[in-house]
Amino acid sequence: MVALAARIRPRAGISPADVKAAVLQGINELVVDTVPQPAPKSGEVLVRIQAAALNHRDVWIKIGQYAGLHFPIIPGSDGAGTVVEVGEGVDSAWMEREVIINPSFDWGHSERAQEPRFTILGLPHHGTLAEFIRVPLSQVAPKPSHLSWEEAAALPLAGLTAFRALFRRAQLQPHERVLINGIGAGTALIALQFAVAAGALPCVTSSTPSKLEKAHELGAKAGVLYNLPDWHVEFGRHHGPFDVIVDSAGGSGFDHLIDLAAPGGRIVFFGATRGNPPELSMRKVFWRQLSLLGTTMGSPADFADMVDFVKNHAIRPVVDTVFPLEKASEAFQRMERGEQFGKLVIRL
Ligand SMILES: NC(=O)c1ccc[n+]([C@@H]2O[C@H](COP(=O)([O-])OP(=O)(O)OC[C@H]3O[C@@H](n4cnc5c(N)ncnc54)[C@H](OP(=O)(O)O)[C@@H]3O)[C@@H](O)[C@H]2O)c1
Repeated sequence: MVALAARIRPRAGISPADVKAAVLQGINELVVDTVPQPAPKSGEVLVRIQAAALNHRDVWIKIGQYAGLHFPIIPGSDGAGTVVEVGEGVDSAWMEREVIINPSFDWGHSERAQEPRFTILGLPHHGTLAEFIRVPLSQVAPKPSHLSWEEAAALPLAGLTAFRALFRRAQLQPHERVLINGIGAGTALIALQFAVAAGALPCVTSSTPSKLEKAHELGAKAGVLYNLPDWHVEFGRHHGPFDVIVDSAGGSGFDHLIDLAAPGGRIVFFGATRGNPPELSMRKVFWRQLSLLGTTMGSPADFADMVDFVKNHAIRPVVDTVFPLEKASEAFQRMERGEQFGKLVIRL
């Protein structure tokens, strides 16, 4: 714990209290340990985390497949909690406020794309799988009051990514047909909830029949198993073509998504869980006037608009399972196996 203690500065003049955190000490070495309680710097607040949530990013980091790895690191991009201390220059009115944390740090000034110094909470900076975290005041927003701690923790990263993907990048309109690929993904599931709230007509894919049924209950018009051969042909005939397609899997299935897109359609993607597509049918893309839109996280304005959208539509993120911090490794395993439908939440 020596290196970690050096990075989390103990509070000046006060003997540092030890707080619990899930710490990655190396690739696949996740332990629950004690670390010194961080102290907020100028312009920062100290948040007592009530609940945190996992994203696939945390798994990529745990298994060593993420750029800029360093250990030890407290993972976790998503968190919700109470402000318990304010740093210099921060209004003390923030004390005791219930907040969610925007994990998209140092986006920059352009709405078009993030600047090079952009980072995501949980690497390179210590993340939310800890009892306390210090973050700049600009990274917190009041917790929507209709959400439980668990639901609030489930929202930030997936909500921000899905919101920008659907509404900023793909410009989804009411009554448009949208296909959301791999509904078991946390990002995909909140995209489904957003699309339903926006009055679009969403369909979904999954590897698992029970996930298709649950998606139907949330408003999906139809669903199909993407692991069946040529699943897209019959499905496209009955339910396509799609104006907007949301993907985070990539891989060989991406070509089917191109086939399912309507002329002038937009395919928006933010992940490549299955790697790069082995080949891209460029002729299909240009002849059918398709737009391939990359997207990542979102700006502060995207985050604020996403939170407003969630409040206005009383959207409640779906929580799959809640684990105590001591069982954080079980939450990681469930995500690695792809068993979840909804977010995996760690209660602190
Ligand atoms: N760039 C960004 O800003 C950003 C933000 C968030 C996430 N991401 C990336 O997006 C991906 C999803 O992240 P997440 O946190 O939402 O992950 P997650 O919750 O772990 O999602 C995993 C799900 O992906 C689906 N999937 C796996 N293989 C698939 C395939 N061949 N075709 C279609 N779907 C497939 C499965 O859905 P079923 O269970 O339904 O089969 C699986 O449950 C990750 O690669 C992540 O790194 C990027």
